[in-house]
Amino acid sequence: MKLWGGRFETGASDVFERFSGSLHFDKKLIDADCRGSQAFAQALERVGILSAAECTALFEAFEQIHVDAVQPEFFEGATDEDVHTLVIRKLRERVGALADKIHTGRSRNEQVSLDIRLWLREQIDTILHRLIGVMSALIPMARRYPDAVVPGYTHVRRAQAVLWPHYLLAYFEMFARDRQRFLETRARVNVLPLGSGALAGSGFPFDREAMARDLGFDSISRNSMDVAADRDFALDFLYAASVCMLHLSRLSEDWILYSSEEFGWLELGDGVTSGSSLMPQKKNPDSLELIRGKSGRVFGDLTSLLVTMKGLPMTYNRDMQEDKEPLFDAAAQLDASLEMLQVVIDSTRLNAAKPAAAAEESWVVATDLAEALARAGTPFHSAHQLVGRLVLESVNQGKKPSDWSAAELAAFAPEFTADMAKLLDPTEGMKTRALAGGTAPAAVAKAIDEAEARLQSWKR
Ligand code: ARG
Repeated sequence: MKLWGGRFETGASDVFERFSGSLHFDKKLIDADCRGSQAFAQALERVGILSAAECTALFEAFEQIHVDAVQPEFFEGATDEDVHTLVIRKLRERVGALADKIHTGRSRNEQVSLDIRLWLREQIDTILHRLIGVMSALIPMARRYPDAVVPGYTHVRRAQAVLWPHYLLAYFEMFARDRQRFLETRARVNVLPLGSGALAGSGFPFDREAMARDLGFDSISRNSMDVAADRDFALDFLYAASVCMLHLSRLSEDWILYSSEEFGWLELGDGVTSGSSLMPQKKNPDSLELIRGKSGRVFGDLTSLLVTMKGLPMTYNRDMQEDKEPLFDAAAQLDASLEMLQVVIDSTRLNAAKPAAAAEESWVVATDLAEALARAGTPFHSAHQLVGRLVLESVNQGKKPSDWSAAELAAFAPEFTADMAKLLDPTEGMKTRALAGGTAPAAVAKAIDEAEARLQSWKR
């Protein structure tokens, strides 16, 4: 069955049918298609195209189709052009000729926009839930090691000491922004396109506000040509998914390194690692590597749709059918990656002595010393020079910070007062970073509480 054909003398070639058909992937939209069509049947009743009894018959038939669609044999042997065509064929099997009325004043161009919006809305809600799960897993890990000191890095060089919970909360903030981005995306997705027709607006005076209410949309679209041409909402989703995958990938990269023998900070659970078929000693971080790998794939999905849309003349073009597979793929990969990361976090333990030793034996305290000198009146530039010379001297003599006594420091330069020597311990200087957003233990304890309170409010 086709939704068109009167104008053609011969049927489509087999090759074209196979080439252009989208049912094998857009069947994912069947729930959305049925729900959208139910709301549309009600709209047709309101404008008098359907009687109340006809509307009820169609409504119930869509309900049944939607239920039947979970059976694998439902799609067996189907050669329909796309999911919208299949649903109408199934409708005709149930209600006969009455099915021919459902597409009155409606186009597949708006239907496909509607279905993707309904489907995406649900995906976004699932992802928001998973994001909360990942953020929730970070909190107990932060609380388990309230005073674990690690070197923070820039350029992969030890920079300044920070608390492990401070590091974890950095990711919490990234995921909190991801949550925000998905909520903003959801608002742009949650707009009713129905009533736009193929591109010019429907010729029937549908109550679009009522359809929006029936389908849980916040608002209605304002321009029918925009609806036919627009995939911004899909791109918004792919961008939000890409940035979120980027965060997952960076955390994965960190933890792959931190759990290596070279670092030895983290022990990943057996349940999220795998062995080697040849090397008996291996415990590989495959879960994290796959998350990192999948991030590239999701960026590809974003790029794919950007390039598909670029240069399309107004309004709908069949190219736009290529929107679905990247979208489905990105949603599935992001969902699976978030689920995986939460399990990884839950299974991971910090061997706090290792990073503490790394901080202790390096010059992560250099900034603390320079700032203490500045607080005591030495202009910062001179203080920086002075500590730089202290570090150079130490490197040349093979000394670490704790090898210096207060007397030796004072002998090196009189600007070093006795109380500055305690800053050679990385846990000391950290206490000065007590302003909001800093890594002082008190600031971090407060930040953990605040993060937890925000999480609670998001769960409500
Ligand atoms: N399967 C099509 C898609 O996903 C539905 C719209 C078809 N419209 C058309 N004018 N051929 O874009």
